[in-house]
Amino acid sequence: MNSLLPTAARCAAAFVALLSLSGVAAPPLAAQQSAGSFYAPLLKSKPKVEDMAELGRVLFMDKRLSASGQVACASCHDPARAFGPPVGLSIARAGADGRSMGLRAVPSLRYRQTVPPFTLSFHEGEADVTDQGPAGGHTWDGRAGSAHEQARLPLFSPLEMANRSPAELLAKVRAAGHGAALERLFGADLFKDEALALNAVLLVLEVYQQTPASFSPFSSKYDAVLRGQTQLSAAEARGLELFRRPDKGNCALCHVADIKEGAFPLFTDWGYVALGVPRNRALAANRNPAWFDLGLCGPLRTDLQARKDLCGQFRTPSLRNVALREQFFHNGAITGLEAAVRFYATRDTDPAAWYPAGRQGAPRRFDDMPAQYHGNVTTDPPFDRHPGQRPALSAADVRDIVAFLKTLTDADAVPAAVNPTRGKASTARAVKP
Ligand code: HEC
Ligand code: HEC
Repeated sequence: MNSLLPTAARCAAAFVALLSLSGVAAPPLAAQQSAGSFYAPLLKSKPKVEDMAELGRVLFMDKRLSASGQVACASCHDPARAFGPPVGLSIARAGADGRSMGLRAVPSLRYRQTVPPFTLSFHEGEADVTDQGPAGGHTWDGRAGSAHEQARLPLFSPLEMANRSPAELLAKVRAAGHGAALERLFGADLFKDEALALNAVLLVLEVYQQTPASFSPFSSKYDAVLRGQTQLSAAEARGLELFRRPDKGNCALCHVADIKEGAFPLFTDWGYVALGVPRNRALAANRNPAWFDLGLCGPLRTDLQARKDLCGQFRTPSLRNVALREQFFHNGAITGLEAAVRFYATRDTDPAAWYPAGRQGAPRRFDDMPAQYHGNVTTDPPFDRHPGQRPALSAADVRDIVAFLKTLTDADAVPAAVNPTRGKASTARAVKP
């Protein structure tokens, strides 16, 4: 795991934080940076960023873009819940029939503006010789290299919006009445070139997802604390201390908690780790006992299947807005935030609390990974103990960490009574599907 973001990402994060501090509407960073070969032909007509973002917002909410006509991006990434899953739908149902069950928990789409591109060997900077292993990329296994590659996935995934071809999608876009708006932005000839028209759809979705007010508001109580506008309660402050201390939670090792070079923390280093979370027996795919989702080494990701040392590793998620979630980790196996934190405390000291009993009655640890990969599972603290030993975190410690994690919820997603900064942050353009 890498304790710092690469310099470029940090600068970008600083830029976004700065803009959100000053309340200025920002031009989308990634759109500028990735504008190169992919988007260049589209940008010839000089479309305005605000207009692209607005059309992207409209498409994001439009169910008519899916094969079933029942699913929009917003159906899984709920704008009212920090673009994470709606209540009761942590593992979404969608697909061509609108009912097929997904394989993974729906992530929040906030704070991904500065995800570095996927790399197998992350270095702190050019002078750094320490290879910190894989980092970056989009999705739980980093298989989408960029936000526009990522947007392609749900539009054509049989488990998500299930369009079978670009032509099918573009026909839906036009039937839903978005053709004229796209032509206004990108030129009257746009639909003569299918590839270009598809890229236009991906571009406006990407630009929308770069809108600071909606996707990186930095409006949580913790942000207000960092700005010196308010203070943590006693329990929250204890929780933060436990979150940081290497001999306690050690959480900040991977879930970065402090401002670095002016950039507000995203509570992730985008590194990959195998935590050995339990199998989620409610997933339809898991009815097949031989099927395993092993993250970096596949089967969803296909380019690293030979790297058995990476099996079981998933990308460290941001913990911003984590208290809005109901089910946790890549497979949603653990329900409730307190249980998710308790898993760190007692995975090794009390494995029977997490894993089903095997034939001899002993718990089958790491039951969501074939035995030959169990050596990949991390033993970094707090995972440095044995059954029967005292956990690194007491029950009260776990509660305090949860109290702290609740301060990471953005202002637009918490009840007014809980967050004194509500309304002050730049969340004016609240989005409703
Ligand atoms: C049926 C539910 C569903 C729909 C509809 C859906 N998504 Fe997702 N989205 C997911 C899931 C599940 C993941 C995690 C996938 C994985 O890790 O393999 C995800 C991942 C993502 C990510 C990567 C986030 C990260 O942390 O790297 C982005 C970006 C994204 N979706 C954008 C979109 C956009 C844009 C749309 C509409 C075009 C959309 N999604 C539609 C369920 C959905
Ligand atoms: C060694 C790196 C590392 C450390 C240390 C670490 N985490 Fe994590 N965390 C991860 C990774 C990787 C995942 C995703 C694993 C998966 O889904 O398989 C994760 C997931 C989570 C989730 C689930 C988030 C979601 O969106 O489902 C929570 C909550 C969490 N961590 C909290 C903590 C807390 C609290 C601590 C300290 C007690 C901590 N983490 C320490 C790497 C780490």
